[in-house]
Amino acid sequence: MARSSTGRACGKVILLGEHAVVYGVPALAVGIDRGAEAVATPVEPGLPSELRLGEGVRAAAGSDSDVGHAFSALLEALDVRDPVHVAATTDLPAAAGLGCSAALGVAIARALRGISGTAPLAPAAIAARALAWERVFHGNPSGVDTTVAAHGGCLLYTRTDAGPVFEPVPLGAPLTLAVGHTGEPSATRVMVDAVARLRERKPDIVAKSFDGIAALVKNARLAVEAGDVVGLGRLLDLGQMLLSGLMLSTEKIETMCRVAREAGALGAKLTGAGGGGCVLALVEDDASGVLEAWSAAGFRGFATVVNPGAVVVNPGGAS
Ligand code: PMV
Repeated sequence: MARSSTGRACGKVILLGEHAVVYGVPALAVGIDRGAEAVATPVEPGLPSELRLGEGVRAAAGSDSDVGHAFSALLEALDVRDPVHVAATTDLPAAAGLGCSAALGVAIARALRGISGTAPLAPAAIAARALAWERVFHGNPSGVDTTVAAHGGCLLYTRTDAGPVFEPVPLGAPLTLAVGHTGEPSATRVMVDAVARLRERKPDIVAKSFDGIAALVKNARLAVEAGDVVGLGRLLDLGQMLLSGLMLSTEKIETMCRVAREAGALGAKLTGAGGGGCVLALVEDDASGVLEAWSAAGFRGFATVVNPGAVVVNPGGAS
């Protein structure tokens, strides 16, 4: 039987800059220690290429579903012509703002590249290929999710007309985060469309919010580098206010942020597309108080630590 190949990628949280990043404002995001794994195996000629996601979803390439279209787009982006079966799993919740679809896209792209017999692609090139997958689910993705999924670490990411520009941000101190789920799904495409419509109706207000977010991102980068977690926490709280102003928050998000702050979090905000999905709370060094308070309020979450040594894979990567 032909050789299998395994690909992996990490999930992410956006510390600051979601939505504004779609319009060219830099975003600050970190890879987390959860993600996706995919195993690709060549199959007999004549069989259809097929993707299995977890135990549930099965889609043949070209089949009429988002997963089928996304899989076809990825096969095309990687120029895979021979039939292949891919089995992919993830420990990230879907539709939660943690970059689940991007992690899957990058992991599958890596696995597919692995069976091609050609040299592995650099992270930036893999992220670019995975964007074909991501576009099917998200319409107009900024690319921050696929870039962080492929590189890990802490990145300052900017979408430009000439393509993504990003740089690793060295951490002055570990970042300990509690990440909790509202229990409400968050549809990135719907939320990105909602901001686009708001921007058409109220361009000045949205431009001012984006300016505010850009200033927060700039300061957050400095705080991350300096290891100033107290300062970073304040910036996260301000970020949440601006995102609420863009109608991206929900009652549950607000409740989770409040509960986290009352339990000692240095700052808390929605992360990702909003309208549901996940909240992140920055803590000094122990997330258990926030996680217990969330649990008592009916919300589930997990802790993740981003360490100064977190590897950024070949940030300059060529295709
Ligand atoms: O909710 P997620 O994980 O898909 O993150 C979306 C981030 C946005 O800025 C809202 C969209 C984007 O493409 O950057």
